[in-house]
Amino acid sequence: MVERTTGTNRSAGISVQELIEHDSKEVPVYLRQESPMPPGPTFVPTEYYTSPDHHGREMDKLWSRVWQMACHEDDIPDVGDHYPYEIGNRSYLVVRCGPDEIKAFPNACLHRGRLIKEKQGKRTHELRCAFHAWCWNLDGTLKEIPCEWDFPYLDPADQDLPEVPLGRWGRFVFINPDPDCEPFEDFIGELPDHFPLLPIEKRYKRFQVSKVLAANWKVAQDAFAESWHVFSTHPQMLSCFGDPNGQFDAWENFSRQHNPGFTPSPHLEGVRDWGPLEPVDHDRPRERHPFSGAVYELRVDGNIDITMPNGRAGVFTPEAVWVEGKLGHADLHLCKWVGGPALHDSVPEIKLPQSSGQVIERTLPTDLDRAAMVELLAGFRADGAAATRERLRPLIGEVIDEVSDTELNGNIYFNLFPNLMPTSSFGDAIWFRFRPNGMNPEECIMDVISIAPLPLDGSAPPPTPPDRFIGPDESWTAAPEIGFLSKVLDQDSGNMPFVQRGVHNLASRQVQLADYNETKLRHFYQRLDDFLSAP
Ligand code: FES
Ligand SMILES: [Fe+2]
Repeated sequence: MVERTTGTNRSAGISVQELIEHDSKEVPVYLRQESPMPPGPTFVPTEYYTSPDHHGREMDKLWSRVWQMACHEDDIPDVGDHYPYEIGNRSYLVVRCGPDEIKAFPNACLHRGRLIKEKQGKRTHELRCAFHAWCWNLDGTLKEIPCEWDFPYLDPADQDLPEVPLGRWGRFVFINPDPDCEPFEDFIGELPDHFPLLPIEKRYKRFQVSKVLAANWKVAQDAFAESWHVFSTHPQMLSCFGDPNGQFDAWENFSRQHNPGFTPSPHLEGVRDWGPLEPVDHDRPRERHPFSGAVYELRVDGNIDITMPNGRAGVFTPEAVWVEGKLGHADLHLCKWVGGPALHDSVPEIKLPQSSGQVIERTLPTDLDRAAMVELLAGFRADGAAATRERLRPLIGEVIDEVSDTELNGNIYFNLFPNLMPTSSFGDAIWFRFRPNGMNPEECIMDVISIAPLPLDGSAPPPTPPDRFIGPDESWTAAPEIGFLSKVLDQDSGNMPFVQRGVHNLASRQVQLADYNETKLRHFYQRLDDFLSAP
């Protein structure tokens, strides 16, 4: 089930570049590019995840000096709209002060420091502190100090709100608290060049759902920065997701992963083909574990019947706790997938997070050589991409004909240092962001941000609702707007508290990263150490 040695530090599975050779369209040069990090051991001290001192160093040396995505223009569409961006124990107030003018300020009243605005708001005509009513114009210039006579030592000309440098990528608003920071364009580098056909300018923000997780922000982010965990954490995806045979690249301040779709995981190599599930007379979720062949089936009482191919069976809770039967062990993640909180009724059930919603049947011929297999897969991929093109044509227009199969089938996610994960997906896309939660190193905020193409006819997109939080113990399915991906997020989030608790127990006091599959993590920690070691 698990690839052990291949002779290089690459999976023996079919590679992205092999598949690109058979694309039915011209594949853009940026997808043919490879920019691997040099191999080399990477160890991360566990204090990076647990220590309040380290957390403080990150606040001082990283978050106070780095470009970071604060909000989207759609969060503040009208003059006077304002958005407090929170990072750790810091808050910055982003304000639309003119039709095309946005400014950001440290969110602190210059009198005694109250947050000027503690929540998102609309169309205010001034920035007035709620404590003693000091007041600024939207552009941060001082408007009024009540009882100004009592501050005879202050020069009102010095009392404008200090501005924070601001940059924009498309319609995303970035800030950098460091007034001497490098220009934003230098920081973001060539990342925008990876989005030429549907640039970020042409996408709007649909919604943001956030949740506090019981894990350091890097523990949570790392879980989304590699796809290697898929065979273990998301076994339901293996038939059409290239996990360790993805491609991983790193550039100055961003990295990229590219998992080919419509490509079985190399972990399935040599694993018995169990064939399709027998039909049943109910529509409760069922799934076969690709490795053991056990069938997981949701019962009416919410528990799960699990039956091995040899007939041994047991009943388990959605948390994989044994209830009864001869079978003693169950796969936690498949239990969560089949059971646990269900998708909202409004969410169509899709089994796999592929853009086309199609699945490769496991029954692939076994007598093909590698080249013939690549060609066979190319056929699946072309068919899948053709279906996706027709689904997306009404959304993005004729430009869809220029989009390659590999972009439409693949899972292509970037990490823009330090904490934003854009995807170049062409339809409704989910971006992730991870933030420290106050000064607690053992918690973070995970933001799930939905981005979609602007209406083709030039009309305004639907207004973006205010960001919302779901409870720390709630399932992501509590946010039906996320769709079927919420069940996948539950599988991912389920690992995080246990990683956070586990790293405290590591006798070596360090975690160790894979050379290639954890390229994005290695790239991240290298950049983080650059910031932490700067004077
Ligand atoms: S703290 Fe804002 S006016 Fe006093
Ligand atoms: Fe995952």
